Amino acid sequence: MVPKSSEVDVPVELRERRGVSTRRDFVAALSTVVAGGVASSAAGSLKVVLAAEQTLRDIAAQKGLIYGCATTQDRLVADPAFERLVVDQCGLLVPENALNWNYVEPSPGRFDFHMGEWLANFAKDRHMKFGGGTIVWHQGLPAWFSSLAPADARQVMLQHVTQTVSHFRGRAFSWVVVNEALAFRGAGAELKDTPLLRLVGPDYIDVAFHAASAADPGALLIYNDNHLEYDIPEDEYRRKNLLKLLRRISNAKVPVGALGIQSHLRTGGLPFDGAKLKDFLSQVSDLGYKIIVSELDVSEKGPETEVADRDRAIANEISRYLNVVLQEKAVIGVVTWGLSSRYTWLANYAPRSDGQPVRPLPYDSDLRPTQAWQAMAAAFDRASQR
Ligand code: XIL
Repeated sequence: MVPKSSEVDVPVELRERRGVSTRRDFVAALSTVVAGGVASSAAGSLKVVLAAEQTLRDIAAQKGLIYGCATTQDRLVADPAFERLVVDQCGLLVPENALNWNYVEPSPGRFDFHMGEWLANFAKDRHMKFGGGTIVWHQGLPAWFSSLAPADARQVMLQHVTQTVSHFRGRAFSWVVVNEALAFRGAGAELKDTPLLRLVGPDYIDVAFHAASAADPGALLIYNDNHLEYDIPEDEYRRKNLLKLLRRISNAKVPVGALGIQSHLRTGGLPFDGAKLKDFLSQVSDLGYKIIVSELDVSEKGPETEVADRDRAIANEISRYLNVVLQEKAVIGVVTWGLSSRYTWLANYAPRSDGQPVRPLPYDSDLRPTQAWQAMAAAFDRASQR
């Protein structure tokens, strides 16, 4: 059985002032508690049990927002409780790796869509949207790509994008067409030095989006990138660079539909400036792009060691971030990179220094909702109607 209830302490004053008998009141109360970072079991508080029928999918949908997660076929097949949770909570399913280039075209011209196909069918059968990707990403490239002659690489990339998007034509809500192209501060260039840049050339992003758009004009085509979220010089540099890229792309009529902002957040008190982030998102929106939070999770870099404290820090990180981001009307939804800490890339990529298992997602490893779930639900509920 999947435990489907969540408990949170809501101060009695809140209950008396607003009542907590309806879901709306409950989530409103919750948003105060979580946003204030004061969820505690202090005397005078009341345990409220979240109604079992409430899901992130529904709470988001009530505002016209989409909520979804990335995962894999293996987990959905092997773990029925996890599968049920994904189906219940998510309105959008994206492959974690299954449609990366190295899986889809393991040798030149030999295409294999069986993993993506399985996920697309799974989503369709369960009335979830399906989001494809990542098509063009330097870390997802097959080894053979790097040994292509520059004269061939452009055509090979174009062909890869065309085949991939055509295969799912009419079935994909969205595609991450290009991922992580922007250089980091200090590199002295706009784009990362990758085989794509070296072999295809500086317009590889343009070529990829034109091919994707021709192959499925109905899909939302996403340019996706990371390290854009915090008020630190590294991210500031990338926000500026990204706006430059998007302006160029918009002038050149490259058919990008949305910016995906990965949103791999971190606890530990990194500077965050809501006004700056809001300004950045509104500039993206002014250029005509939609925005999607595409890979939300939280790695633990703070001093907290007790689970309750860690969860509170994670939830607060999500609250302060989503409460800003969801104010921007161009934001269409949120995807978490996984759903439960039972399965998360951060277990390997960003383990805690004390070795305790990480808790970056809305559900813990026992598939119980955490404060991150509550923070997300509250942020969705606070968001204005789309
Ligand atoms: C990660 C996957 O979760 C891992 O399974 C894989 O080993 C490495 O890639 N940014 C992205 C995602 O755009 O594709 C990455 O996914 C996480 C960081």
